[in-house]
Amino acid sequence: MSQFVIANWKLNHSAETAKQWLEEFQQGFIPNLSYRVGIAPSHTEIALVRDLLKTSGLAADIDLVAQDVSRFPRGAYTGEVGAFQLREYGTKYVLIGHSERRRYFHETDVELRAKLEAIIEQGMSPILAVSEQQDVAWLSGLGIAYQELTIAYEPLGAIGTGDPATAERVAEFGRNVVERLGMGCKFIYGGSVNANDISSYFAVPQVDGFLIGGASVRAQDFLQILDKIRSSDS
Ligand code: PGA
Repeated sequence: MSQFVIANWKLNHSAETAKQWLEEFQQGFIPNLSYRVGIAPSHTEIALVRDLLKTSGLAADIDLVAQDVSRFPRGAYTGEVGAFQLREYGTKYVLIGHSERRRYFHETDVELRAKLEAIIEQGMSPILAVSEQQDVAWLSGLGIAYQELTIAYEPLGAIGTGDPATAERVAEFGRNVVERLGMGCKFIYGGSVNANDISSYFAVPQVDGFLIGGASVRAQDFLQILDKIRSSDS
């Protein structure tokens, strides 16, 4: 099955470095059924990335992912970027609930619920980052269609620390997600994944992909991850 592999650039790229990244990526990228790639730039780089994907011919193989969205549909909310605006740029997925947003911006479940609704209403698909079982339990009470949803399991101690979760821990979390939400949603893992440690998750049947932070900032590192997935499948 195809793995969904997302480059979460976080707050790292300018227009210039995003352009360089895509040029390098294009040179090394081998389209393959083993993976489907998503790129999550900052909002300010979304239009640029969309245009470069189109002109380079990569648009058919790569999905645009937004790193966040406003919980408000539209109106007097200075500084916000709404779901309808992200959709205009061809954004397909929106990441919400990342632990960095919960921690530094005090994002709450009430806000996340409004964001989920805003994303689905605009015909995009939410990627909800969770770090604990209770976040999944909360979801099961919301009554949203799970086929549209990707759950990104990101245990707190594993994000950006170089200390990824064990395959057993990821498998156990994945089993609980399936138990609570059924088989409808996708389940991906994120937390210090790089080309050296990714193979340990290939045997976990629940894992449908990866959210890559630090190892996606350089195109070469990200390409190495894709290489590993491709060669494990051949
Ligand atoms: P990391 O980040 O790969 O740097 O741990 C993952 C994420 O937070 O999306």
